[in-house]
Amino acid sequence: MSSNVETTELFELELPLPDAAIQARSERLVGFDARYERLRRDLRLLADPEELSRWSKKHHHKELSLCAAIGDRYPLVIFSGDVGTGKTVTAEAASDRIARETNQDAMIFKLSTRVRGSGKVGEMSTLLNHAFQVVAKQAGKSRRAFLIIDEADSLAAARDAAQSHHEDKVAVNTIIQRIDDLRRHGGRVLVFLRTNRGGALDPAVVRRAARIEQFDRPDEREREELFRLDLDGLVLRDEVFRDLVRLTGPQEARLGFTYSDIRTKLLPHALCFAFPSRPLTGDDLIQAARDVRSSPEVRDI
Ligand SMILES: Nc1ncnc2c1ncn2[C@@H]1O[C@H](COP(=O)(O)OP(=O)(O)OP(=O)(O)O)[C@@H](O)[C@H]1O
Ligand SMILES: [Mg+2]
Repeated sequence: MSSNVETTELFELELPLPDAAIQARSERLVGFDARYERLRRDLRLLADPEELSRWSKKHHHKELSLCAAIGDRYPLVIFSGDVGTGKTVTAEAASDRIARETNQDAMIFKLSTRVRGSGKVGEMSTLLNHAFQVVAKQAGKSRRAFLIIDEADSLAAARDAAQSHHEDKVAVNTIIQRIDDLRRHGGRVLVFLRTNRGGALDPAVVRRAARIEQFDRPDEREREELFRLDLDGLVLRDEVFRDLVRLTGPQEARLGFTYSDIRTKLLPHALCFAFPSRPLTGDDLIQAARDVRSSPEVRDI
């Protein structure tokens, strides 16, 4: 494979873990600790087969065949769900947490959508192969590597879909082969595949997932938690929170707000009423909740 492909063409993020900024972000994620707690055992089983072997010897006085069976799983986790519900940030935060808990240096890579290439025959699978090679090599060096594949629906779409082109089919085959190969690394490479439309993913990719985690728009309790977290330090009456939670819930003509609708649209909109001349008030927030629209749903197929 040509070594003249720059890794900056392949990855939009390439970062050593643990990382303080990712950790700080994870502390501002509603529900992250509970979700990580649910994912944790599974992720640790995938990421650390030696830990499983130690458990087996300690509690069963030998290496159970179960350990080998578990080792046959594919190091692939699928995060599926609506836009702006935290799939990407959770994949980053979970990788950071595993690196901390296992006390091992690691690298996190986020595959760039540029691997789709410019449409030349074979280009996409060449770039994908190269990206997986870089990640596997890194795991050899720094013990552990995480690969986040965002927009997976555009790379791993079902091969029998009517609109699937030859190049796309080759790309899906490449991803499947590379994920199969990653099993050789004994859990040192873990792939997070993020999709808005789980139903559009190729069944052969889906069946390889050791775990499929669903992400949804926040419910009332989660929206309240997000508002209380982000508006900490302001003196606001409880009724303001109640109104914000109600106004950002599902309405007749639209869905409820996503986490990112609240964080990246509603709150900045409210702030713009006040900044830079006066303090932010509850009325600003309520007005913003009335003005801003929630993201439309990405339809699954
Ligand atoms: N659980 C959460 N708590 C607080 N904020 C959140 C949460 N989930 C997402 N956000 C906010 O929404 C933003 C978008 O999150 P993220 O990019 O992970 O969404 P996504 O599910 O990957 O969306 P997409 O499918 O559009 O890529 C984050 O930067 C963060 O500010
Ligand atoms: Mg995302």
